[in-house]
Order: sequence, then C-alpha cells, then structure tokens
Amino acid sequence: MQQGYGGHPVSSWYNEDLAYIHDVGFCDYALQANSSILASLAQQGIQHGLVVELGCGSGLSTQAFAQAGYDVLGVDISAAMIAIAQARVPTAQFRVASLFQTEIPPCQVVVAIGECFNYLFDAVSDVDSTGDRSSLMPLFQRIYTALVEDGLLIFDIVEPGQITPHISSRNFTEGKDWFVLVEKSEDPEQRILTRRIITFRQIDDYYRRSDEVHRQRLYFASELATELASIGFQVQISRHYGQYELPPARAALVAHKPSRSSH
Ligand SMILES: C[S@@+](CC[C@H](N)C(=O)[O-])C[C@H]1O[C@@H](n2cnc3c(N)ncnc32)[C@H](O)[C@@H]1O
Repeated sequence: MQQGYGGHPVSSWYNEDLAYIHDVGFCDYALQANSSILASLAQQGIQHGLVVELGCGSGLSTQAFAQAGYDVLGVDISAAMIAIAQARVPTAQFRVASLFQTEIPPCQVVVAIGECFNYLFDAVSDVDSTGDRSSLMPLFQRIYTALVEDGLLIFDIVEPGQITPHISSRNFTEGKDWFVLVEKSEDPEQRILTRRIITFRQIDDYYRRSDEVHRQRLYFASELATELASIGFQVQISRHYGQYELPPARAALVAHKPSRSSH
C-alpha cells in the first residue's frame, strides 16, 4: 500500500468511496456516450450479440446495453466498481480483471468508455523502458482477433494538453453526501497525467477520507488511429459522442473490422 499526503493510505484504485462517488456524481459521461454508441450499433446493423465492455465501471452503460437486448461482459480492475455493476445488472457477466490481460471472447462489439485505455494502474509487463505503456498495439491486436467481421471497437481517450504542462490544477466537486478534491499535473515529456484524488464520504455522523493517485499515459488520437489501421481496422476519430461534445483533449475512436469480402 502506498502512502498519500500526510500519511493517509493510498490503497487500490476506484476503491469503495471513489467507486460510489463516480457512480452517483459522474454518470453523465457514460450515459451520453452510451446513447450515441447504441445509435452507431443500430446504424451498423448490429442488433444483438455480445458486447464486451472494458473498464465497465459501475455498469451504467452495461445496463443500457443489456436493456437494448445485447449480451454483455463487463471487465473492470476495481472490485468496488464491479460490485455496484453486478447489483445494477444481475443478468450481465462481470470479471474483476485487467483489460490488458483478460481473455476477450469472440464478440460483435468492444467498448471502453471513460478513457479506460489511458490508465497505468497495472502497467508492469507490456511497458517500455520508462515504465509506461507507449503503445496499445498488443491490446488492439487481441481485440481485432476477438471481433467478428463487421464488428466494432468504440472507445475514448484523453490526449496530451488537458492542462498547462508542469502547472498543477486543483478543483473540487460535491454531492449530497460526498465531496472530491482533484489535483492534476501533466508531464509533457513523459506524456503522463497524474491525478491526486481525495474523497470524503459521509458515513453516519462522520466524513471518511480516502486517497488515490491515478496515472494515465496520454495518446494522440491520430497515433492510435495509425496503429489501428495497421492492424486492418477502418477508423474514424470524433470529438463528440452524438450531440455530446467531449471535454478538451479527448477523442472518441470508432474502429470497424471489415469483412473479408470487402478487402
Ligand atoms: C473513468 S472510469 C469509467 C467507468 C465507466 N466506463 C463509465 O463510463 O462510467 C475508468 C474505469 O476504467 C477502469 N480501469 C482502468 N484501468 C483498467 C484496467 N487496466 N483494466 C480494467 N479496468 C480498468 C477503472 O477501474 C474505472 O472503472
């Protein structure tokens, strides 16, 4: 266990309190993304089959996929997130696992909503000499193999440039029984965004404090599009999910695995 500022323990990521706060206070992004993704699936003629949701979090979009008639497998590294997701969508399958290591079954669609591919939570094996995941190629290869022909990979990322390099920014957000303080800093040379997160959640008469530090490797959408295209995907980069404009330095990528007959 790491030690946070002032000796407060930093345990895992998206622990019980941050998982709760993300679910109740930061659900808009998933819900907005999700309705646009469902429209893309309909447009592509994918009406049923398996959706694999990597970094499914608390199951907000898992629920929408399940309600739309898809089978869903949700994968997340946070046991606390999966506990909420399982309660929300008892009919879906879930795994507590790293998306970088879990086996991806044959499927129609893979989605990852909320910059899940940027996180360096479990960067150990497939990392470069700086200890950071500089390429997503191994992941993209596995997804390409798992997808059926005409299947889709849809995900979003955070790019460099979200905040002024080397200058940390601080903000807070509050809800009925919680508040969260976030300090962000970006290292443009290493392309790492670090978020120090302190949560306070009301438990009976007290507020419980938890600390987490999240590191993310930043990618340019154009670089990832090149990686995806080299595997065989047809790729579109977008700055919005449907009508919902993404926050600054974010991009959504839609990668289509063409059928062999269209080559
Ligand atoms: C910003 S949250 C988004 C959650 C959910 N998709 C949503 O939109 O509400 C990012 C999620 O990615 C998960 N995550 C990050 N790295 C992961 C990894 N290596 N394997 C699986 N899940 C991961 C986190 O635990 C967290 O639930």
